[in-house]
Amino acid sequence: MGVPLCRLPLLLLLVLALSPQGTRWPAAAAAAARRIAPLPTAALRRLYDTSNYGRLQLNNGLALVPQMGWNSWNFFACNINDTLIRETADALVSTGLAALGYNYVNIDDCWSYVKRGNKGQLLPDPKTFPSGIKSLADYVRGKGLKLGIYSDAGVSTCQVRPGSLHHENDDAALFASWGVDYLKYDNCYNLGIPPKERYPPMRDALNSTGRQIFYSLCEWGQDDPALWAGKVGNSWRTTDDIQDTWKSMTDIADKNNKWASYAGPGGWNDPDMLEVGNGGMTFAEYRAHFSIWALMKAPLLIGCDVRNMTSETIEILSNKEVIQVNQDPLGVQGRRILGQGKGGCREVWAGPLSGNRLAVALWNRCSETVNITMTLPAVGLDGSSAYSVRDLWKHETLSANVVGTFGAQVDVHDCKMYIFTPAVSFSASW
Ligand SMILES: *[C@@H]1O[C@H](CO)[C@@H](O)[C@H](O)[C@H]1NC(C)=O
Ligand SMILES: *[C@@H]1O[C@H](CO)[C@@H](O)[C@H](O)[C@H]1NC(C)=O
Ligand SMILES: *[C@@H]1O[C@H](CO)[C@@H](O)[C@H](O)[C@H]1NC(C)=O
Ligand SMILES: *[C@@H]1O[C@H](CO)[C@@H](O)[C@H](O)[C@H]1NC(C)=O
Repeated sequence: MGVPLCRLPLLLLLVLALSPQGTRWPAAAAAAARRIAPLPTAALRRLYDTSNYGRLQLNNGLALVPQMGWNSWNFFACNINDTLIRETADALVSTGLAALGYNYVNIDDCWSYVKRGNKGQLLPDPKTFPSGIKSLADYVRGKGLKLGIYSDAGVSTCQVRPGSLHHENDDAALFASWGVDYLKYDNCYNLGIPPKERYPPMRDALNSTGRQIFYSLCEWGQDDPALWAGKVGNSWRTTDDIQDTWKSMTDIADKNNKWASYAGPGGWNDPDMLEVGNGGMTFAEYRAHFSIWALMKAPLLIGCDVRNMTSETIEILSNKEVIQVNQDPLGVQGRRILGQGKGGCREVWAGPLSGNRLAVALWNRCSETVNITMTLPAVGLDGSSAYSVRDLWKHETLSANVVGTFGAQVDVHDCKMYIFTPAVSFSASW
């Protein structure tokens, strides 16, 4: 942990270069100590290790913030077709989700025919995608959205359709010719060849099409992709597939947390798609899932049937303030800072935001309602300065004058989420 001193100046430059006007994190400590409470350097280095931030970059101009959209797998698995994808695009627009940033409509496995054509080309399944992928891409793009597709860095996909291993250039060229904007690249039937050898050829193939195509690696965290995938893709799965259960969701959150220092604009850790709205968790659990995924700068890819959502599901997925935490331009992954009580189940997660702000989640993973409290220095804030605290689920500013400590009562498995903003002591401009 910690930022080696020799790398600090470069890091500061990088952060400033990537940050919007007015952002002073982490340069705040030196520049603005008198007016705005700084994030103390020691706490900063201990808690929000950014030693790998911006170090590995694919540089295809995409993923400056985590990707948002929808993917067919979690709800529909193989039961997909052209009509479903079109209706989903329609629903993303009519529900207002598209306007909130959910713009990728991603088709997962099962879109393609079980055999390649006589020229070796991938073919859409003629029964389920009779008008082909280009026509579908045109439709989706006509709604202001983008189309994503799926393939596999192996000889077959997981559902045993043709894989792209050793067909990278042809398949990438075909996807580009269809107007595809995103590729999820899976890991089945991989012949035991290491991911580090199988994933870069598709990066190069996508690049040589000249089309900007988001490259989403899905090697299941097998070979610790955070350590190398930043140069290969725009996001990389850190774990096995998510299931629609509290146990799976919490396990995955903890595994993904381990790689926090490797995320940054251009490349993100991917703890898998959202299960919100699929029925296996309570409202509180889904709210926690969404809050923590947002804070971890995870891709926000909806995994339910957006044509048929309950009002509770819509309420969670369309929380603009939580989405803004995820899409913050600073792009530092928030992480678990402390756990109190039995097994550490009263958890505090936090992460820095642009504009000298800090996002904080109080997450109750115990089996009863609890109070979770923290000192402000524990999350890297100044112990004697005043902060304004906004509750992102209540949509209200709780206090403009929080000093020293903060806490709240949190229901079983629920998660409260806040933004702490330094209270400005006098109104001089920068
Ligand atoms: C291809 O890679 C080069 C070198 O990293 C980069 O400058 C260019 O933007 C990439 N093009 C596309 C379409 O991704
Ligand atoms: C398309 O898929 C949806 C979702 O699985 C299904 O409800 C619908 O019947 C399918 N339509 C056709 C024409 O197969
Ligand atoms: C819509 O979702 C509800 C559960 O929330 C389910 O009972 C119903 O069958 C779904 N309707 C359709 C048309 O899929
Ligand atoms: C949380 O703290 C408040 C204020 O001290 C108290 O009234 C409440 O009973 C506590 N809740 C729990 C679950 O301990």
